[in-house]
Amino acid sequence: MTSAVISVDYEQPVLPPVSGTVCDTRHAWARVPPEPAPAEREALKARIRRLLRERNAVMVSHYYVHPDLQDLAEETGGLVSDSLEMARFGRDHAAQTLVVSGVRFMGETAKILSPEKRVLMPDPDATCSLDLGCPADAFSAFCDQHPDRTVVVYANTSAAVKARADWLVTSSCALDVVSALHAQGRKILWAPDRHLGDYIRSETGADMLSWDGACIVHDEFKSLELELLIEAHPGAKVLVHPESPASVIALADAVGSTSGILAAAQRMDAREFIVATDTGLLHKLRTLNPGKTFIEAPTAGNGATCKSCAHCPWMAMNGLADLARVLETGEGEVHVDPALGLRARVPIDRMLAFTAGLKKGQPAGSLVAGIGAA
Ligand code: 13P
Ligand code: SF4
Repeated sequence: MTSAVISVDYEQPVLPPVSGTVCDTRHAWARVPPEPAPAEREALKARIRRLLRERNAVMVSHYYVHPDLQDLAEETGGLVSDSLEMARFGRDHAAQTLVVSGVRFMGETAKILSPEKRVLMPDPDATCSLDLGCPADAFSAFCDQHPDRTVVVYANTSAAVKARADWLVTSSCALDVVSALHAQGRKILWAPDRHLGDYIRSETGADMLSWDGACIVHDEFKSLELELLIEAHPGAKVLVHPESPASVIALADAVGSTSGILAAAQRMDAREFIVATDTGLLHKLRTLNPGKTFIEAPTAGNGATCKSCAHCPWMAMNGLADLARVLETGEGEVHVDPALGLRARVPIDRMLAFTAGLKKGQPAGSLVAGIGAA
């Protein structure tokens, strides 16, 4: 027996299909930096390389940020990855300054895991519709109403929401964690992405009571238009991020996190792929698979992201000039209240220990045993 998704009132702007109100992204688009001219671009990169050395700093970039910030991270000994590996790399790296290119929750997670390090972001105001749509007070009240449930929270949330969680997950480990909890008879309170929650419920059969948030980028993918595209490219495989609606996931040949999509594209022997995730991932997909063609899945094009493509306006706020400026001046530092950070760290540590244990072949059941609500 599974529980239905319930609607929870938000104080923050919510998302078009749920409430009819719009998550306002104008502020973010207004702060997307202009593309530097070629000479300026090279000069900025050289300045960043020098500052990274001088400041004992390392770059940690997400796959959705500008290709320059992905390439520079790799070239200078940093990392470009999904949100799970960003957290692990930042925690384990010896550098005393981490420069996180992505969105706010990624910088906060890095700071929570390494409170002694300085965490800088090109623009710490870069947020996420899932984070905006899950205010800590309302979420805490929701948890209070369901004390019998194990609280599983997606990484795309504030430190205060994480502090209420038993488990943190990213899209690359959510299925494994919920599946193991379900096998132990746990009932789940899930937040905030309803599409990812629906997907996990359908895959695991777990009893999940879900918050009602969505990613404005992935929520834009449309199944009817995708079916037409599939008809036009009969040999193509469809790769979908699980923050997408169920009707889009139903058309997928592979469903996965950003790293899961990359792995599927390398593994599958098709020549053409249709990709339903942020267009930022295309850079890595194309670099790693030079002989393969990647086609963007169709969106509603109603302006919640850019007019006709799926690109996160907050990820787009990260640019070379701001990155150089924060390295130079120390502006853009991420702060997390130490007491809150200590509490929020508990579910993050569990996620990192769980995924490390799985990699070593330890059984998922023993990795979740004894943790979370009764
Ligand atoms: P990943 O955890 O797959 O990197 O995704 C993060 C994210 O923000 C997806 O929209
Ligand atoms: Fe949040 Fe979606 Fe942007 Fe990812 S792509 S950071 S989930 S709004």
